[in-house]
Amino acid sequence: RPRVLSGIQPTADSFHFGNYLGATRQWVSLQDDFEPFFFIADLHAITNEHDPKKLTERTLVSAAQLVAMGIDPERSAIFAQSQVHEHAELAWVLNSLTSVGEARRMTQFKDKSAKGGEGSASVGLLTYPILQAADILLYRPQYVPVGEDQRQHLELTRDLAQRFNHRYKKTFRLPEPYILKETAKIYDLAEPSRKMSKSSSSPSGIIDLLDDPKSSAKKIRSAVTDSDTVVRFDPEAKAGVSNLLTIYSAVTGRSIEDLVASYEGKGYGDFKGDLADVVVEFVTPFRDRTHELLADRAELDSILRRGAEKAREVAAKTLADVYDRVGFLKA
Ligand code: TYM
Repeated sequence: RPRVLSGIQPTADSFHFGNYLGATRQWVSLQDDFEPFFFIADLHAITNEHDPKKLTERTLVSAAQLVAMGIDPERSAIFAQSQVHEHAELAWVLNSLTSVGEARRMTQFKDKSAKGGEGSASVGLLTYPILQAADILLYRPQYVPVGEDQRQHLELTRDLAQRFNHRYKKTFRLPEPYILKETAKIYDLAEPSRKMSKSSSSPSGIIDLLDDPKSSAKKIRSAVTDSDTVVRFDPEAKAGVSNLLTIYSAVTGRSIEDLVASYEGKGYGDFKGDLADVVVEFVTPFRDRTHELLADRAELDSILRRGAEKAREVAAKTLADVYDRVGFLKA
């Protein structure tokens, strides 16, 4: 079976609806037809100053959420990136294939280093996408299910794979991004021109999966819309309403067309109220299940250890090929 691989950073106390609809929901459905590898990108989470205790907690909460949303540890390797040391090792080799200019052109680096100035950003932030390329290439996956904001990193990954294959010998498979058009970018509820984001959304703009459902309902009811009254899908003219329609459609499986038709002649109040109910219905059991899983730390540790073992079988083999081709002596 071809492989599928993706990762998520443990940089918040909860995943949000952008993470879920843009990426992790696809992880769940792809497990059936692919050999799945899903990891928590804890190495990526230290490129900014962080609290070590929180990182540990958030890594565990991330694992629990993945299982609660339907990633099956029997079928999928779920692990923490730091538990598979091959990620950091391949990253070093790829660092040596990447020019500083190429790394500096990544929009994420430009955005994240803009505030304090490039001189004070960590080198880790600069080489972040190269570690991401290593994460991916180690497993030779066909697909990498992510949101739109990761597309540029996938392009770099393909460039580096090609460069290595060309310079040494064909070693890596060129991975394809798996990005669902409808949910590739979920927007902030309070500022619907910006993407929903752990680092930049204000609390009123972001719906966390582990939020108190009542508070999520309230955020939806007060989401920014427009002065028109018609529920209609038009991302240019009606960014807020269109974003709510996207979320509504993704969570219920109903088409946008069908939703639009059913709100004909009704106002935004009814529309938002119903979406709030739909979201509450979705997050309530998810939250309960996550907390249940978190209560059994030993079991979570064991899921991650088993996942890391499965991952290392594949990663170690790729890294051995790479080391051999680069000319390193056998250990
Ligand atoms: P991260 O942790 O920021 O986000 C995890 C996933 O959620 C998607 N996403 C969104 N999708 C739609 N709308 C949004 N508003 C939204 N916000 C986030 C992201 O696109 C991502 O798929 N660099 C990665 C983690 C990573 C990775 C990897 C991913 C590390 N190594 C290897 C794939 C393969 C990141 O920071 O994702």
